[in-house]
Amino acid sequence: MFRTKFIAVVIFAAIGVSACLNAKSTGFVIADSKTYEASLFRQNCAICHGPEANGRTLDDGKQVPSLRKADFKFRTEGEIYKQISGGGNGMPPFRDQLTDREIKLMVKFVHDDLRKNDQ
Ligand code: HEC
Repeated sequence: MFRTKFIAVVIFAAIGVSACLNAKSTGFVIADSKTYEASLFRQNCAICHGPEANGRTLDDGKQVPSLRKADFKFRTEGEIYKQISGGGNGMPPFRDQLTDREIKLMVKFVHDDLRKNDQ
């Protein structure tokens, strides 16, 4: 009897801990988001940065960085804007594909939604 209860407690504790760990490592879930920014990301960025912006290795072996991890190259909103608008180092410029307003939305999306939970 005691044994069964003990095992049940251990199992529940394990489920609780793993739920917390999952929630922490995932942070903002792009797939669950119905915002305009999330759909722009899926259309324009996911092909390189991965569906959840965790980074990807492209077919030609090029490494595309995560937009969530803490060792960012560009930290300020201005720097992120420049990277999305002008591209560089393997990333295409988006100033002709997206409007200025859309680029600003993507800057907020990266800076506030994706990085907020992980930095
Ligand atoms: C063709 C592949 C490709 C696409 C599409 C792409 N990126 Fe990138 N992105 C890259 C690469 C490669 C880098 C690394 C550039 C560098 O190291 O300077 C990068 C870097 C970045 C960075 C800087 C990361 C840092 O460390 O600070 C941001 C922010 C970013 N991309 C956002 C976006 C957004 C938003 C979109 C969609 C509008 C997008 N990217 C689409 C390939 C891509």
